[in-house]
Amino acid sequence: MGVEFRELNGRDEDLDEALRIYEESFGNSPTSIPVEFLRGIIGRRAGPRLAVLRDGVVVAMAIFARLGRGSIIWYLAVDYRYRRRGLGSQLVKSVSNVLSGEVKAGPEAFLYAEFEDKIVPFWKANGFYVLPIRYYQPPMRGAWVRLNLGVLPLLPRSSLTSSAVRDFIYEIYTTVYKVKDLNDEHVRQVLEDCSRLGELTFNLTWRWGIRV
Ligand SMILES: CC(C)(COP(=O)(O)OP(=O)(O)OC[C@H]1O[C@@H](n2cnc3c(N)ncnc32)[C@H](O)[C@@H]1OP(=O)(O)O)[C@@H](O)C(=O)NCCC(=O)NCCS
Repeated sequence: MGVEFRELNGRDEDLDEALRIYEESFGNSPTSIPVEFLRGIIGRRAGPRLAVLRDGVVVAMAIFARLGRGSIIWYLAVDYRYRRRGLGSQLVKSVSNVLSGEVKAGPEAFLYAEFEDKIVPFWKANGFYVLPIRYYQPPMRGAWVRLNLGVLPLLPRSSLTSSAVRDFIYEIYTTVYKVKDLNDEHVRQVLEDCSRLGELTFNLTWRWGIRV
């Protein structure tokens, strides 16, 4: 039968398996949020979405969200028994494909991901450009976390300006992470780094030749 991609709703029978993989992979990581909280928000209108790959059983999961100024893969994990077989990459491509069919050309036609240094090769292998900024994820468990922010175009011939990146970060900080103090030094730092990108326009190449 092969590997099957499915997007789940909040009551799907695969939900428990997907959340088990999430919990095993992220556990007490400072970037994770409690699984019960996730369970409550998945599938809500305008809330985060959950997709899986099944190969008889659920083997990989991704939580992603479409915001006004771009989309984000928030969490992505492959069951540890099935890693390094291309499944993580396959799930990134499937999620990108779904989103590329939904977005309009312009700033919203970009998919972002936040990740640690050690996982940079994975995102680069999947076509993400690591933005040259000092990015911080707002506190999920008490402290700001220094991460990388990568970006992938969802439509061909897309160009991305530094102000679009800045607007995306502002949106995710305020609507997803609900940062209250926008004068916090981390916020100022990351937004300042964005403006240092100047008027640079990234012309990112569409890699996979998938649907537009
Ligand atoms: C990161 C993760 C999703 C990768 O899934 P995967 O199915 O094992 O990855 P793939 O087989 O598609 O890997 C494709 C390429 O990415 C790179 N890569 C994969 N896993 C990597 C890792 N842990 N570290 C560095 N590079 C990695 C390699 O270049 C790999 O190609 P290769 O196997 O030919 O060397 C998986 O390791 C995982 O679930 N980790 C725990 C959760 C996590 O860190 N998620 C990412 C942040 S949200």
